Formats: sequence, structure tokens, C-alpha cells
Amino acid sequence: MKTISSVVSLCAVAAVLLGRPATAAETFKPGEVWPDDRGQHIQAHGGGILKLGDTYYWFGEDRAQNNQRGLRYVSCYSSTNLAHWTFRNQVVKLADPENLGRGWILERPKVFYNAATKKFVMYAHIDNGTYKVASVAVLTSDTVDGDYQYLKTFRPLGHESRDIGQFVDDDGAAYLIFEDRPFGFRIATLSKDYLTVETEVCLIPEHMEGGAVVHYNGLYYALGSALTGWNPNPNKFATAKSLAGPWSEFKDIALPEKNTYGSQSSMMVKIVGTKATTVIFLGDIWKPRTQWDSRYLWMPLEIGDGKLALPEPHAWTLDIKTGEASVKK
Ligand code: DGJ
Repeated sequence: MKTISSVVSLCAVAAVLLGRPATAAETFKPGEVWPDDRGQHIQAHGGGILKLGDTYYWFGEDRAQNNQRGLRYVSCYSSTNLAHWTFRNQVVKLADPENLGRGWILERPKVFYNAATKKFVMYAHIDNGTYKVASVAVLTSDTVDGDYQYLKTFRPLGHESRDIGQFVDDDGAAYLIFEDRPFGFRIATLSKDYLTVETEVCLIPEHMEGGAVVHYNGLYYALGSALTGWNPNPNKFATAKSLAGPWSEFKDIALPEKNTYGSQSSMMVKIVGTKATTVIFLGDIWKPRTQWDSRYLWMPLEIGDGKLALPEPHAWTLDIKTGEASVKK
């Protein structure tokens, strides 16, 4: 019978043979090409992360150059350490479902898992080429990386909705964040089956997109970007004791002249480890003319006591078990 220590040393030998150090910390290189297990740059732009057990799934816009013109694609990748990603499937390959016309868009997909119905429910921003439809599309699948089936398009609670974000609180409650151009950004609960948006929790009267929320040490932190299309701008954050507010004033997450280091917010992911809790900023470095080559800026945030700062991007490591992150300077 194998002892635990012999299994552990076998793992260490295997890690060395595979060319990876036996340490549990993995390295992230913000802004660089990020190859998946096939060696292809990850296509998960404007994305979101879903955690099931110990596995993380990353969904995002697949803008690969060889995609078919009129279709819109979402890809799904999996990882147990957030650094090395396995391509699972192009989970959405959709032809214009609402006759939106040439240049229709499907952006910022976010997937929720509904434990009651056992369905995976995807929300995405759906629009025509001039962004006037301002609605969400809902697609579902029985498996996390299956082919998601288009269900419907609607305006959440009757409001305009462009960029969307997802937030799942520590108690499991699921929220959609959406940008309602005339008013600001809204946070709303999903219905029991997640197939519709049910109740507004708050309207933050700030004109921001790329909305993201995290619950950290008893405080909610919301952040987003200004409305400058594909161009980066100084992203800002606010805090509140309750999701319903009142929310503090918005403040810069980095020196404003740095323009969020060329990125735009997409999500914040909280890693609760055995030794530390790390909140990661997930941002997109858009390349509007070569979208397939858009990059990712993932950095651990300096967060706590109502403060939040995005440090200057450098390579950094994360130990997914302990939750410890360390920026290499
Ligand atoms: C900014 C949004 O955040 C992106 O998702 C995309 O919709 C661009 N605008 C389009 O200009």
C-alpha cells in the first residue's frame, strides 16, 4: 500500500518531469500572449469565471481569426490553478438569433450554475451593430462545457443593458450587474431558475461599464470603467456595507494617468486559501483592430478597509491552495 509521502514525492517527480517546478505557486504574466493547452492564445475576452468544486471555468468572447463571419462565439476553458487553461469547447456558435443584422454583437458572456435546476445559465450582452438594442441574451446547457442553446433576448427589468457583469455572493445569491446608459449601473437578483432578472437591488448612478463586484471582509467593492469604447480609461471603485448601498464616492484604482495600465475591468475573483484571501482583478487589454490578439491583465488587488488598488503589472505568482499571491518586482 502506498503511503501519502510516497504519493507526494511521486507528484513532485512528475511535476519536474513535466518541466514544471514542484512548487504549488503558478506564474501569471499580465499583458502577454496566454497560450492554452493547445498552445493557442486564450479566446475568452470580456469573460467571467465559474468555480465548480476545485475547478475554475473561464468563459469569454472567442474572437479567433478563423471563426465564421456571421456567427458569434463563446469559448470555455478549465483550470485548477487559474494559470494553466485547458480548452473545453466553443460552447456558443450562434447565428444572429433576433435578426439584428450585420455587425450584431454577443459580448461579455457570464455563466451561472443553478443548483436547483442543475442547468448552466449564460447571460451575454446582445446588440445590433450600433448598440441600440441594449439587451441580454440567455442561453442554457445541461453541462458546463456543452453546447449552450439560445433561449431568449430581453431588457432586464425593462432597462437598457449593455456591458454585463456577474456577482455571486458568499451566501450563493446570484446577481447580474448591467449598464443602463441613461441612469448608471444596476445590480439585480436573478429569478429562482436564473432564467430572468427579478429584483433590482440598487442603481449606482455612475456612468460606468465593465461592472464588477466583490465581497471582501464584510464590505462590498464595486468597480467599473468609464464609457470610452475600446479605449482604456481610469477605472474606479466604490464601497458599501450592503449591496443595496449607500455606496461611497468612486475613487481611482490606480494613478489616473496610467489608464488602468491599458486595460478595462471585467470581473473580480476572490480566492479563499488556507493562509490568505486574494482578490484578482480580471481586465481586458482590447485590440479593436485585431480582437483575437486582445490580451488579459490579471493582477492581485491591494484591498481592505475600504481601499482598493491595482498595482503596476508585473509577473506574479499564486498558490491556489494557500491563496497567497506574490508580485515579482
Ligand atoms: C466597451 C465595452 O466594455 C466592451 O465590452 C465593448 O462593448 C466596447 N465598449 C465596444 O466599443
